[in-house]
Amino acid sequence: MSKILIGSDHGGFKLKGIIINHLKEEGYEVQDFGCYSEESCDYPQIARAVSKAVIETGEKAILVCGTGIGMSIAANRFKGIRASHCTDTFTARMTRMHNDSNILCLGERITGSGLALDIVDIWLKTEFEGGRHQRRINMLEN
Ligand code: RB5
Repeated sequence: MSKILIGSDHGGFKLKGIIINHLKEEGYEVQDFGCYSEESCDYPQIARAVSKAVIETGEKAILVCGTGIGMSIAANRFKGIRASHCTDTFTARMTRMHNDSNILCLGERITGSGLALDIVDIWLKTEFEGGRHQRRINMLEN
């Protein structure tokens, strides 16, 4: 069974719950790094914990905040993280194929839950193409 790491701040808490339920229905194991209520909290702390776990385990993760932008800025500070803020399915597919994206960022206040779940499904199922794209990723890492 594939494992997916997930985290949100208060701005993404409701959408995170919908995504967790969906992933479990699809047979994924889900590890939730918080937050655990709609009480105001700080997205950089959640992004840090999830990013470190992605680097250590090689697993993929989903981060949700109000816009998806704060989480993507925070996660991309960590070497080895390629966090993609997606608001459409084309971008979700392309960022897996070309960027080997390892964290998907979503905005609860931007993207409705139906579209968000389509983005999640496509992002999780699309494979990295490698080849010239791996060369470019190596340039990012080095
Ligand atoms: C919280 O109000 C909001 O700023 C946060 O969820 C996120 O959108 C930041 O980028």
